[in-house]
Amino acid sequence: MLCLLACTALTLASTTHAQAKPELLGNRTAFIDDLLGQMTVDEKIGQLRLVSIAPDMPAKKLADELAAGRVGGTFNSVTRADNRPLQDGAMRSRLKIPLFFAYDVIHGHRTTFPIGLGLASSWDLDVVATAMRTAAEEAAADGIDMTFAPMVDISRDPRWGRTSEGFGEDPYLVSRIAEVSVRSLQGQQTPIAGNRVMAAVKHFALYGAVEGGRDYNVVNMDPQRMFNDYLPPYKAAVDAGAGAVMVALNSINGTPATSNVWLLQDLLRKQWGFKGLTVSDHGAITELVNHGVAHDETEAAQLAIKAGTDMSMADQVYLGQLPGLLKSGRVQPRELDDAVREILGAKYDMGLFHDPYLRIGRADGDPAEVNAESRLHRAAARTVAQQSMVLLENRNATLPLKKSGTVALVGPLADSHIDMLGSWSGSGVDKQTVTVRQGLQAALEGRAKLVYARGANITEDKHIVDYLNFLNWDDPEVVQDKRSPQAMIDEAVRAARGADVVVAAVGESRGMSHESSSRTQLSLPENQLALLKALKATGKPLVLVLMNGRPLDLNWARENASAILETWYTGLEGGNAIADILLGEVNPSGKLPITFPRSVGQIPSYYNHARLGRPFTEGKPGNYTSQYFEEPNGPLYPFGYGLSYTEFSLSGVTVSQPTMKAGGRVEASVTVKNTGRRAGATVVQLYIRDEAASVVRPVKELKDFRKLTLQPGEEKRVSFTIDAKALQFYNAKLDQVAEPGQFQVQVGLDSKQVKTASFTLLD
Ligand code: NOJ
Repeated sequence: MLCLLACTALTLASTTHAQAKPELLGNRTAFIDDLLGQMTVDEKIGQLRLVSIAPDMPAKKLADELAAGRVGGTFNSVTRADNRPLQDGAMRSRLKIPLFFAYDVIHGHRTTFPIGLGLASSWDLDVVATAMRTAAEEAAADGIDMTFAPMVDISRDPRWGRTSEGFGEDPYLVSRIAEVSVRSLQGQQTPIAGNRVMAAVKHFALYGAVEGGRDYNVVNMDPQRMFNDYLPPYKAAVDAGAGAVMVALNSINGTPATSNVWLLQDLLRKQWGFKGLTVSDHGAITELVNHGVAHDETEAAQLAIKAGTDMSMADQVYLGQLPGLLKSGRVQPRELDDAVREILGAKYDMGLFHDPYLRIGRADGDPAEVNAESRLHRAAARTVAQQSMVLLENRNATLPLKKSGTVALVGPLADSHIDMLGSWSGSGVDKQTVTVRQGLQAALEGRAKLVYARGANITEDKHIVDYLNFLNWDDPEVVQDKRSPQAMIDEAVRAARGADVVVAAVGESRGMSHESSSRTQLSLPENQLALLKALKATGKPLVLVLMNGRPLDLNWARENASAILETWYTGLEGGNAIADILLGEVNPSGKLPITFPRSVGQIPSYYNHARLGRPFTEGKPGNYTSQYFEEPNGPLYPFGYGLSYTEFSLSGVTVSQPTMKAGGRVEASVTVKNTGRRAGATVVQLYIRDEAASVVRPVKELKDFRKLTLQPGEEKRVSFTIDAKALQFYNAKLDQVAEPGQFQVQVGLDSKQVKTASFTLLD
């Protein structure tokens, strides 16, 4: 034991710096060049490997690889105690180049915050910053150097399971969230401080536009749509200083992102000036063979490195193929050096050359229990979750609930710890979450009676349950109640009959909105709908608490429920935060970051769609317009929509002047008033429409928003400054231009109901 401590201390003291000259440490380029100059080809290739800590990499094998300098970084190794011996191994290698440790810290680390859609529903960048900063601090405290976040893929197709992870459909909102996420994860210091982590923005690019919403599918997209609608969030993250970019699994117009020279060199590096590290997604280099653009792994490695995929996640292709490719001259030494330089640069920026143990620290500082309560940030989790929910319906002021009488709580998600977490919950521990049942119980204690009945399983479809449990066969997430569906419904109906109000927590298990969880339907599973219909038949007010990771088909619910609260997946403190909203301790203020279509057939359904020659106009029926004839057109709930327990009114919009000079500005102003009886917050949204341009432009585009809290009767003037930048778009030549002419300003509390004014941009 003594030797262990002494040896560790010795190792630390003698290995603080790699073999490069410590005197160069202050000069990033010189330091890296010097180190690169000392490296053998094998050591260089070793740096390109990002190894998954998994059963196929046993400790002994990893130790050998580390000592030989054949690993650049790892992922899925998540504590200081686990990472320290790995870093010790790297410090025993010839050049002592530190490893970095990466992990999927997507919406929290030990403290699980709401999923991406929930964070985006807050329309509050401070709320996002709190979640991301806390996540970074907790991850860094566990010895992690890099997170594979933020995930900023625009999604207009809710069939795609990964919609849950992202921040919705809008390029502007997602871009602002991308920026604040990167800044909050990385902090402002260079090298990145020991209590922050490097951000690897993903999935570059366009992963949210996979065909049919089928995960891993192809993306075919015209350049204008790319530049105007899908690329801005990645660009915003890069501009905010993201240290790394994760390359997407999909192909783009026929070329996989991993081997896409245009994407990784022309766009990312030359046009956007990205200077950081590119990391492949899991096994993506090998998959170039499956895509059919490489004959074999040799060609796959050649294509990927030449395109600019620096680091290979979880495949051995670079390790196995690059030596031969270099020997045969199919890959140039310079191409290898370029990739290695980025990896060393990222390690430099993480502060690891200054101190390889920056985030791992000393053994005597390790937490006794990594999941200790004291390491959680429950207060932040609760506040953030309160802001992440969207009130979709509230008939007869059913909500807030009275804190007296009897509340019947039913539904498969009412008491499900694991589902509170949502997917990609990193190191979140299900048992530590607060379920809706626990939250309501605590809040109603001594005041009202809570009766609980499960009422339904997530689904009765065995095939779906098997699919969802496939990866977790030893610890299934979807656990079936063995009673018959009718027996469960009967019990729930009995509970409802004896209650004053019914709260039903229904939706999707977390695995239903995850990687590889594409759906053909957006409806609630049949058995859950049957439960709701039986509850409705009791005549008791029915409040739906939805948990889901994508817009759902809520046609029945909208007609029949008294109130609907969209909670997404609220995280660690979700049950308390949901109780806070249901009981009116907090007034809901979230707004949808994504459109809810009426049916799968309407997909894609998004607010900022292009102008048409024959548009469908609501309220004005007409043949030969762009519409479906069997059901109402337009969304069920539009982008930007969300109710409050109070009401707000909006005045007409005024613009400060009728014209804007090139380089000038126009102010658009409205007055918002709280006309109800409770204090509440709402989001004033500014949309702009280009009345006539050189190419077809959207009906409207979000350009700014302001969230504000008003006391009952209080009113505030809100002014938005519009400059030429807000009017710019990528034209047919892909030049970013603001074209002179008329612009319509639209201001609303959602994207549909807006007040308008106009101004003209002068030549
Ligand atoms: C594959 C996913 O696509 C990506 O988002 C994730 O970061 C990696 N696996 C690592 O877990």
